[in-house]
Amino acid sequence: MDWGWQNRMGRIFPAPTKRTVMLAVDHGYFMGPTHGLEVPKETIRPLLPFCDALALTRGVLRTSVDPGTSTPIVLRVSGGASIVGEDLSDESLTTSMREAVRLNVAAVAMSVFVGSAHEHSSLTNLGTLVDEGEELGMPVMGITAVGKELQKRDSRYLSLASRICAELGAHVVKTYYCEEGFSRVVEGCPVPLVVAGGPKLENDQAVLELAHSAIEAGAYGVDMGRNIWQSDHPVAMLQALRGIVHDHLTVSEARTVLEEARAGRTPSSSRRPVPPARA
Ligand code: R5P
Repeated sequence: MDWGWQNRMGRIFPAPTKRTVMLAVDHGYFMGPTHGLEVPKETIRPLLPFCDALALTRGVLRTSVDPGTSTPIVLRVSGGASIVGEDLSDESLTTSMREAVRLNVAAVAMSVFVGSAHEHSSLTNLGTLVDEGEELGMPVMGITAVGKELQKRDSRYLSLASRICAELGAHVVKTYYCEEGFSRVVEGCPVPLVVAGGPKLENDQAVLELAHSAIEAGAYGVDMGRNIWQSDHPVAMLQALRGIVHDHLTVSEARTVLEEARAGRTPSSSRRPVPPARA
């Protein structure tokens, strides 16, 4: 890939770990002003210094993020369905590659609905987006969306959907974590894979365990939203997740980081050598 593409990928997955803690705040594109994200600007402001990249739509980017930011932007370019509509999988491309370049983003992202009524169009749209992205040096992230069918989040489905995204040329895949067989999902996906958090989990421990297990299995990082900004202490949670992704902390060590940050102390995370992400 050309210099521009490499530079963009390197900003999303920064050295030395080449992993990422991406903050997802794109939910409004189908959920509206969901809990924790009612006023995007207020949600984003305190979290921005602690994330490696920010995933959002052009509307929230233009209205809620300072153009002086150096944080790389991953722009959602698909949409067209809503939580109250008939079919969440009825998405298509809503934002052009020209607009992505105008906004100087580091990558574009779209949802892919494998197994849905709109499987064909979402997969061919991904192919089109990759063609356009490669022409301009713009990385493309494929998101293995499941709509309301949360039961689809098992390793069989996630392996299938992640692999299809990679085969069609996605440079990064975002998928869900699953307790059984997640390492097979990672192994079957030849491009960097990051995990979403999904709906809010029962407690902090469960969030840290999810992130830790995903990283141990070979994920390149997290692209997480609700379990951060719906937390009682979003900044502390983000710092603890950074410890897991970048400092190779155990869940218990990350928990200490979270408690220290909650108490207003600078976390004294026990840094240790981090194995590089897969080449
Ligand atoms: C769906 O709305 C988006 O792709 C989210 O960015 C993705 O699901 C990650 O957010 P969360 O961790 O809340 O699932």
